[in-house]
Amino acid sequence: MISTLLSQHPHGPDGDPTPRLAYGADYNPEQWPREVWQDDIRLMQEAGVNIVSVGIFSWARIQPAEDEWDFAWLDDVMDLLHAGGIGVDLATATASPPPWLTTAHPEILPVTASGETVWPGARQHWRPTSPVFRAHALRLVRKMAERYAHHPALVAWHVSNELGCHNVYDFSDDAARAFRDWLRVRYSTLDGLNHAWGTAFWSQRYSDWEQILPPRLAASHPNPTQQLDFKRFSSDALKEYLRAERDVLREITPDVPVTTNFMVMGGTKGMNYADWADEIDFVSNDHYVVPDPQDRDELSFSANLVSGISGGRPWFLMEHSTSAVNWQPVNVAKRPGELARDSLLHVAHGADAVCFFQWRQSAAGAEKYHSAMVPHAGSDSDVFRAVTGLGRTLRELAPVAGSTREPARVGIVFDWESWWASEQDSHPTSLLDYRREALDWYSALLALGVRADVVTPRADLDTYQVLIAPVLHVVPAALAKQLTRYTENGGHLVTTYFSGVVDENDHVWLGGYPGALRELLGIRVEEFGPLLDGDTADVRLGDGVPDGAAGRVTSGTLWTDRISVDDPEVEVLARYLTGPFADRPAVTRRTLGRGSATYVSTRLGPDGLSGLLPALLAHAEVGSELPDGARGKVELAVRRDAAGRYLFLVNRTDEPVPVAGLTGEPLTGGAEEDGTLVLSPRGVAVLRQPAT
Ligand code: GLA
Ligand code: GLA
Repeated sequence: MISTLLSQHPHGPDGDPTPRLAYGADYNPEQWPREVWQDDIRLMQEAGVNIVSVGIFSWARIQPAEDEWDFAWLDDVMDLLHAGGIGVDLATATASPPPWLTTAHPEILPVTASGETVWPGARQHWRPTSPVFRAHALRLVRKMAERYAHHPALVAWHVSNELGCHNVYDFSDDAARAFRDWLRVRYSTLDGLNHAWGTAFWSQRYSDWEQILPPRLAASHPNPTQQLDFKRFSSDALKEYLRAERDVLREITPDVPVTTNFMVMGGTKGMNYADWADEIDFVSNDHYVVPDPQDRDELSFSANLVSGISGGRPWFLMEHSTSAVNWQPVNVAKRPGELARDSLLHVAHGADAVCFFQWRQSAAGAEKYHSAMVPHAGSDSDVFRAVTGLGRTLRELAPVAGSTREPARVGIVFDWESWWASEQDSHPTSLLDYRREALDWYSALLALGVRADVVTPRADLDTYQVLIAPVLHVVPAALAKQLTRYTENGGHLVTTYFSGVVDENDHVWLGGYPGALRELLGIRVEEFGPLLDGDTADVRLGDGVPDGAAGRVTSGTLWTDRISVDDPEVEVLARYLTGPFADRPAVTRRTLGRGSATYVSTRLGPDGLSGLLPALLAHAEVGSELPDGARGKVELAVRRDAAGRYLFLVNRTDEPVPVAGLTGEPLTGGAEEDGTLVLSPRGVAVLRQPAT
């Protein structure tokens, strides 16, 4: 879809029918005088740019007053881009409502949990559920679609921008009304709602739907199921808004694909993208690196998860940065090689488009210190040279366009429901970090050179020999059955602390933890033993792990469990040496026929997990596809199509790394020394192998 966006569009931006990777940026020409636009097109051509996103924040410019429209400048921009052979991913321009609208209709402004109005002055100051906002926004969408339906530069529609980035949680009266409607659909009756929310507790029983509110600022812990439902509702409200814009676009331009940019990255939690993906024609994502010891792993993890959300099909990297951003406490510049490596890591995980925020670095406004393809210094700069170099590399990689991901043998399950529910308040610990636990497993696998897919529970989980489901907290009965069948059929399930504990209503499964998974795991936990920040519980690997690993001691943090084992099919793979449950099991494995179910009761972190994982992987007969010397230093990702397999080899280190024994036709990167492929520091090589 994306590889052919540019080539198969009826008019084609440049008439060339060959599939290719898309390359470009958000382009905000309204920030610049017209004479700069010509220069922009020339530099875009020099850099190899073939697509830009236009109009994202242009509402006030396009519609200066309620009944006044100014499209002349945008017509000009579209024409110039088309003449330059550059396609347009055209925004619906609804992301930031103009001052005339918020002045006339302050009732579209979001309200916080404590009742404060979120005033205009930045962007995205609109309520997802406001009928007034929706009417004005959809009027603009219709105008845009009618105006540009047949413009030859138009290749895709870009709905709004990062829906929910700043406005996912709105506690206004509009939200209250929409929340009640959503709850009526979910529960049908008040009795159903009262049961699900456990309103027998603290005298919360509702006798009329009108009594129900969003979880606004309360005297103590708000009802947990109300909170969880409000998270579900808030994600759904934005999804519903996305559908409303999309439906207008599809009505007027049924042949133009529609997307919206997701934010699968650290720190973004409110939107259940696994559940949004079906609403659009192709998945797009924005990603920014936040400095952290695991930041490169996090980039790979996010790109991998986007691929999972996209069902393994190619997706569109709508935004990332050429260098520093402006919104972190300290905004570090990328080092030489990082711009290309970060981009190509997304391509490795299925991106068929590499785009940046933004084309030309702003001279004014809140993002003037955010890097861009053309920095303040101009085109005579290392950033622009790196941008141009990446354009060349992406042309070399044109053959991978359209290829899908080759499934790995290990899957990591990432579940928004468990993420939301496990991190709510009034829990055994407030230190639990769902995404970090999943990332730790991913980091450990990277360190061992073992490829893994990050997938949502909607994926075909049976394809994986090993399925790691960290903190799978919410387990409805049907999911417990599915996982049991998975292990009975020979799959190897691995799960962790605080898994299986509650059902979809956030009610605890009784009789001992891990509740819904207790039988499958063959263990019983009578009590949790969370650890204070800084405290550790030492864990000793024992029987059932390969020779060499037995006896190894590692430290658990965050959590321990008081585990009893009464099933003879359960082996204890590790025991606590210290901590509240010293001498008791820390890691257990139950064998079921050819399959197994493993439980890890503490947080081992990337290092501890890379000590434990070889035992779990060996049991499932899964190993590394990388040669010895490259394991841990190189990340391998594989895409494939009818023409072949594409091996992406990404150097995770700052040193050259030889990769012996992997052969194929080099598409880009790497150098050959004595018959061995050598990756440059932070370098990426792509090899094509014949299809098997
Ligand atoms: C987001 C937004 C962009 C810009 C960048 C800055 O991705 O969509 O408009 O604000 O962040 O990093
Ligand atoms: C107080 C309250 C109880 C209960 C406990 C929990 O004592 O009176 O209702 O909330 O705290 O610690």
